[in-house]
Amino acid sequence: MKIYNFCSGPAILPDEVLQEASQALIDWRGLGSFLAISHRSPEFQTIARESERDLRVLLNIPDTYHVLFLAGGASSQFAMVPMNLLGDKKSADYVNSGYWSEMAIKEARRYAEINVISEANAKTWAYKSEAAYIHCVPNETVQGVSIPYIPDCGDVPIVADMSSCLLSAPIDITKFGLIYAGSHKNIGAAGMTLVIVRKDFIQIPLPNTPSLYNYQILADAHSLYNTPPTFAWYTASLVFTWLLNQGGLAEMAKRNAEKAALLYEYIDSSKFYKNRVPVECRSLTNITFQLSDPHLELKFITQSQTNGLLNLKGHRSLGGLRASLYNAMPIEGVKSLIHFMREFEHQYVNKTS
Ligand SMILES: Cc1ncc(COP(=O)(O)O)c(C=O)c1O
Repeated sequence: MKIYNFCSGPAILPDEVLQEASQALIDWRGLGSFLAISHRSPEFQTIARESERDLRVLLNIPDTYHVLFLAGGASSQFAMVPMNLLGDKKSADYVNSGYWSEMAIKEARRYAEINVISEANAKTWAYKSEAAYIHCVPNETVQGVSIPYIPDCGDVPIVADMSSCLLSAPIDITKFGLIYAGSHKNIGAAGMTLVIVRKDFIQIPLPNTPSLYNYQILADAHSLYNTPPTFAWYTASLVFTWLLNQGGLAEMAKRNAEKAALLYEYIDSSKFYKNRVPVECRSLTNITFQLSDPHLELKFITQSQTNGLLNLKGHRSLGGLRASLYNAMPIEGVKSLIHFMREFEHQYVNKTS
């Protein structure tokens, strides 16, 4: 039976990447396990250089931006962002579009006065011109909502947590002062965070900022200030090569739109399943849905698992169901899920109607 894993993260990776990475665990280019390759070795330096080059090509990142490969997970950025970007300003604006926005706001409040913008979907955001930056989460992984349109905010730079949408489609990097993304979705293995930051946007950090949380120190050291998550970085380099070979992010955007359309169309056509997100804010990556009879949820999860469709349980804070369709999820996986959903509906429809 073919297994399809719909986990929101750590998420599936392309088979080609897994094959190469698993071989590298045992032996990499005759040098033994990649896990024991020094981050100071010329071989690793080549991986570091080439992965940055490939990412710059994929996302069309100008030279005016640093690309950092950091440890610590996306949540570490909830503190690093205010620590490094406030400068002599006292406040920052945060768009609240869901769970991860709230987590970022909670942490940022330790460092600054935070103005919360609750109208994430408005054509203009009610930001304050004295804000050091505006933070947003363009794709909320938990609720499965996305911000349909990022407005022009004048001179106030935009900081975006793109953990669950980076590399799913082309973006205009120059619209952002800083972008960050945890590695365990579209990038690779867990344990790393990508930070893309405009060089002139980095401020003198707040007093007592640890060296490991200081963007300038990390940029000066080319992300090798200390031992980086070498295997996660290597896996990311394989993913970037895979993406380039597939035709880049325009091709990913096409495939992702097709996969999401298929699943939403099915959910919308059924009375048994529901998605409550307004159409214009629906995430193309994390698709949340509920059963008209919530008592059947546990049965749905157990049976889907038996059918090789894994991790469809919604986030613990929200319940319901969720299918995450990252780049590595083939359309066959979505078709398989819809087939199962249809059969499950037929099995139980009479009991709920
Ligand atoms: C949008 C978003 N931001 C932040 C995080 C937190 O990431 P991490 O667990 O790497 O700290 C997640 C979760 O994976 C996420 O989806």
